[in-house]
Amino acid sequence: MNILKKNHYFLAIETSCDDTSLCLINNDNIFLKTVSSIKQQNEFGGIVPEIAARSHEENINNCFKQLLNEAKINITNIQAIAYTLEPGLKTCLNVGKIFADSLSLLLNIKAYPINHITAHMFSYAIDNKHIEYPFLAMVVSGGTTAVFKVNSLIDIEILNQTSDDAVGEVFDKVARKLNLGYPGGPKIDMLYDCSRTTITFQKKRSENNSLSFSGLKSAVLNYINNSKHEIDNSKRIEIASSFQKTIIDETLSKLHYYAKLHKVKYITIGGGVAANDYLRSEISKMAIKTYLPLKKYCGDNAAMIGVMCLINLGLW
Ligand code: KG4
Repeated sequence: MNILKKNHYFLAIETSCDDTSLCLINNDNIFLKTVSSIKQQNEFGGIVPEIAARSHEENINNCFKQLLNEAKINITNIQAIAYTLEPGLKTCLNVGKIFADSLSLLLNIKAYPINHITAHMFSYAIDNKHIEYPFLAMVVSGGTTAVFKVNSLIDIEILNQTSDDAVGEVFDKVARKLNLGYPGGPKIDMLYDCSRTTITFQKKRSENNSLSFSGLKSAVLNYINNSKHEIDNSKRIEIASSFQKTIIDETLSKLHYYAKLHKVKYITIGGGVAANDYLRSEISKMAIKTYLPLKKYCGDNAAMIGVMCLINLGLW
């Protein structure tokens, strides 16, 4: 079935964490609908799996109906289904998988399981069909921080991964300490002021080439705990800006190291943190060719699951 039928779409489903994201995709159009349970999670300062799973169950049918309306198609115009199999929260993944399996039985079409992390690596290709191997992909999200060398679709080497916290997780924890709410990354990004990056956080030196962020996290939290004065808005901006510069500079320096070590055609970054404005402006200064996903495709979304499936099938 290596052909996209006329007026037909792939349905993609992503439910690995707190976003119920569905997409109808073919070579001409992408209809994407994402409903987040972030508001319900906010008071807990992070993701509660049970709340996320219930919210997927409540939202998935409506999301699907709205997409069919938007694309002005009938259910029988769905050619195949792609869904996130792993990694993610098991109870959340199950909602997407059961929806995909049921629809596949009903319509007698295939349901393809897709790896969420690999989909982040190829998310730049949603609006840029240029794929050339090998390339270097860094995934920076709330649960993952890792560098991969993508030699081909079936040969992906992991070069390094965080030995403790993921970058997004540290953004969230620092933001929480600064009373900025959850998710913290976008809040800190909005506060960032390049003229206020004056604080040097005291942390232990990590081993060469190790990817570790818990030392920086503790240093920032200690700095706030030990502060003799109340953290007013100006101080908050100073801490947030200094923290963002430090963690993004460290992350990009690791990527730079691997880009120099391996002969690759280009580098790309995927995952929620790839939406960070400072990261995006700094990476554009690197000497090597860079492809970044559009901001709307950085965080968890079903478009990347659909495109990953189409790439696997040689249809993208
Ligand atoms: O990929 P994602 O949507 O979900 C997973 O974790 O899989 O990433 C969410 C993470 C959160 O930790 C959030 O704070 C972070 O990405 N994030 C950002 C930004 N937007 C989202 N971090 C820094 N700057 C941003 N603009």
